[in-house]
Amino acid sequence: MRILSGIQPSGKLHVGNYFGAIKQYLKLQEENEAFYFIADYHALTSVKDADKLRKYVEDVALDYLALGLDPEKAALFRQSDIPEVQELAWILSTITPMGLLERCHSYKDKISQGITPSHGLFAYPVLMAADILIYKSEMVPVGKDQKQHVEVTRDIAQKFNNTYGEIFVIPNEHIVDSTAVVPGLDGKKMSKTYNNIIEIFAEKEDIQKAVMSIVTDSKPVKEPKDPEKCILFTLYKLFAVEKDIKYVESLYRDGGLSYKDMKGWLIEAASHYFFPFKLKRKELAEDKQYIKEVLEAGAEKARKAASQTIKEVRLAVGID
Ligand code: ADP
Ligand code: TRP
Repeated sequence: MRILSGIQPSGKLHVGNYFGAIKQYLKLQEENEAFYFIADYHALTSVKDADKLRKYVEDVALDYLALGLDPEKAALFRQSDIPEVQELAWILSTITPMGLLERCHSYKDKISQGITPSHGLFAYPVLMAADILIYKSEMVPVGKDQKQHVEVTRDIAQKFNNTYGEIFVIPNEHIVDSTAVVPGLDGKKMSKTYNNIIEIFAEKEDIQKAVMSIVTDSKPVKEPKDPEKCILFTLYKLFAVEKDIKYVESLYRDGGLSYKDMKGWLIEAASHYFFPFKLKRKELAEDKQYIKEVLEAGAEKARKAASQTIKEVRLAVGID
């Protein structure tokens, strides 16, 4: 099956992103033909600083490769390396009803947060539809927040096919909705926007600072506690092995759990978990040529698929 997903280069990745989304994206590369791209055109709707954007694009490429994206299995490329996408976005925009875009929650949410409503922000789902349709993607793994955009893509594809003939594959979303939402340091959903994150590639001192800032109750060590109500335990479960989780859980339930020790174990487990990825990232960061080659090879593969589709589209609409 052809899988496609885009990642906006708009900031540092955190532990919630990893367990909620990235881990699943990487699993899908094993048995499918995967295309993962860095959505730099989309990021322009929020990042207005050229150097920052360049840095974020490089960071996303490094993060994904370090975390296990295998360029032999999945194509990794920059959205802007495939100019055919822009051409398709325009053609799709000519058949996209205004009402369809006006209903998009993500647009409404962003303007309610004070983001200036640019035309790009409004037309964002049309570009996303072009991203998906140009590769004839069958499945699009996304977080829940992006579900509506895939529905919009389906509507646009159907409208196009009804108007011009069956060109596009109608894609399905695959909701990457990790078993549970990873809590942030304050107990709310971990999110860049809440300033409550543990970065995947944080140094140990920073993980330490983050974990030490988690507020716990004042129950004495001896008193039994409910592990399911403790952020420390919820986070620990993501990183630790079964045997250690069982042991710690028994300390909570039977009494004898000290929050100070628990914080120490969480710091160790979190740094240990990402340690091999960190080493890999450091190595990769030294090898700019390799990153360049991976992105170029990915773009070449993607462009082959995109140029075939755009040929069919031009013929169908009469611009050939
Ligand atoms: P943020 O909320 O930090 O801005 P994004 O919206 O960029 O994160 O998240 C990208 C994807 O990562 C989301 O669509 C979602 O699937 C996943 N994700 C983000 N935060 C969490 C979390 N706290 N727990 C689980 N998954 C998450
Ligand atoms: N809008 C997506 C996000 O913010 C990123 C994205 C752009 C995307 N184009 C896409 C995701 C195509 C899936 C498919 O997360």
